[in-house]
Amino acid sequence: MGDHCGNIYELRPVSIIRTLPQIKDHRLFQLKLEDGTTWESFGHQPGQFLEVSIFGKGEAPISISSPPTRPDILEICVRRTGRVTDALFEMEKGSTFHIRGPYGRGFPVETLKGKKLLLIAGGLGLAPLRSLLLYVLDRRDEFDDLILMYGTNNPDNVLFKYELLGFYDREDINYLYSVDRDDEGIWKQYVGVVTGLFDRAALSPEDTYAVMCGPPIMYRFVLQKLLNLGFSGNHIFMSLERMMKCGVGKCGHCAMGDRYCCIDGPVFPYTELENIKEAI
Ligand SMILES: Cc1cc2nc3c(=O)[nH]c(=O)nc-3n(C[C@H](O)[C@H](O)[C@H](O)COP(=O)(O)OP(=O)(O)OC[C@H]3O[C@@H](n4cnc5c(N)ncnc54)[C@H](O)[C@@H]3O)c2cc1C
Ligand code: FES
Repeated sequence: MGDHCGNIYELRPVSIIRTLPQIKDHRLFQLKLEDGTTWESFGHQPGQFLEVSIFGKGEAPISISSPPTRPDILEICVRRTGRVTDALFEMEKGSTFHIRGPYGRGFPVETLKGKKLLLIAGGLGLAPLRSLLLYVLDRRDEFDDLILMYGTNNPDNVLFKYELLGFYDREDINYLYSVDRDDEGIWKQYVGVVTGLFDRAALSPEDTYAVMCGPPIMYRFVLQKLLNLGFSGNHIFMSLERMMKCGVGKCGHCAMGDRYCCIDGPVFPYTELENIKEAI
């Protein structure tokens, strides 16, 4: 967890600098701390989440989508689904609300340093994975080869479209993307599920770390593919999503076997999950 000054429940007021529509019912919110400090004082790591707390509405766990290497603005990418996210979508530039966090175990950045990385995202899974992706791009010389595979269900649902387009001009990232369906025939890249992209990448499982984030159905197939290719379980990391309430290991809502997703995760090495039946 970050620097809570000893109080893990501490609420911090934030305000909205900008909201950027992404795809239908998904928006990127750019936030600043109301106390005037930069996000360095929050102390988040790639892959951690925060609780959005809106008075009279409730709280919702939301992944931090921006890396600590960019401390001026914190970004969250939100899908409108219910009470808290509805309230957030009603807010405008300058509106304020509270957050608490950062919470959970993020991506193992120190372990990944110097290694070849394969990042695999599906749908809204790109939101948490982006914090790691941008961290790696900001500190590119600290990591070896970087492959990003991103799959969505159709061409209208690509998140961070313009940012991703920019990756084509970079030689230090191999970006592959797929859509499950392309009913209008407009997609120039691969059509099919994200695992189809594995045939298009030169992978060396013995010295590559795979990190994935996406819908549960994606995990089963991607995991199978990685294990078949020879990736070892401790080279595979996945970010999980569970129903959460407290976010700090007190209420038990997010239990999976003997683990709590909120404090033991949301990022887990596969080796910690293979014996927890309900995890994947
Ligand atoms: C660690 C973590 C990170 C998350 N990151 C993001 C993010 O970056 N962006 C984002 O948009 N959402 C994210 N979520 C999901 C988000 O927290 C839920 O959608 C939340 O319920 C929204 O709150 P609400 O009050 O708007 O909706 P609610 O009024 O709670 O209703 C939302 C509906 O979704 C269901 N639901 C609630 N939680 C979950 C869940 N975890 N999985 C599936 N269904 C659920 C509820 O049963 C209900 O039907 C994350 C969840 C977790 C646990
Ligand atoms: S959300 Fe309460 S224990 Fe995890």
